[in-house]
Amino acid sequence: PRPGLASALALIADVPDFPEPGVLFKDITPLLADHGALRAVVEALAAPGRDDAGRVVVDKVLGMESRGFILGAPVALALDVGFVPVRKAGKLPRATYTASYVLEYGEATLEVHQDALRPGERVLLVDDVLATGGTARATTQLVERCGAQVHAVAMLMELGFLPGRQTLGDDVPLTTLLTV
Ligand code: PRP
Ligand code: MG
Repeated sequence: PRPGLASALALIADVPDFPEPGVLFKDITPLLADHGALRAVVEALAAPGRDDAGRVVVDKVLGMESRGFILGAPVALALDVGFVPVRKAGKLPRATYTASYVLEYGEATLEVHQDALRPGERVLLVDDVLATGGTARATTQLVERCGAQVHAVAMLMELGFLPGRQTLGDDVPLTTLLTV
């Protein structure tokens, strides 16, 4: 990692037995509270939105509610493009597309405004954690319903013991800053 990024990632705190016994929670709030660390992480997450010459090659950044909002909006500003929120069901006021995915217990539904993306637009998905990949896959379906395409996926962390990377497949480049 570039100077600054490693020390930023070192601010992520391990919290044993949260939210339930046996789970090691990765708390990014100390990283968010340090402006240099936040800047380093936002820059690193924005990088997949540029080509080798440094030109911005995405039209929008999409962030998934709710932790994807914290990182996605500053990534959009870093790339000088707009931000699109992908929200949990029932939160967006106008016509939406919806995509559901299976959780450990039950099902979750994500939505995006139908006019949030124009056909052919290229988007960068940003979120904090890739776990099973269900959230990112459902979001990819929403992007495709809009006629747009996912150019890249950028996540702060990847849980290496879960098959998120396989779930997303090889079609779209996946950048994660840390595997835990
Ligand atoms: C967490 C995390 C990712 C998602 C990853 O969000 O912020 O968005 O789970 O899991 P997956 O790869 O198995 O889909 P959560 O749904 O807990 O909601 P939050 O962001 O509102 O805390
Ligand atoms: Mg989330």
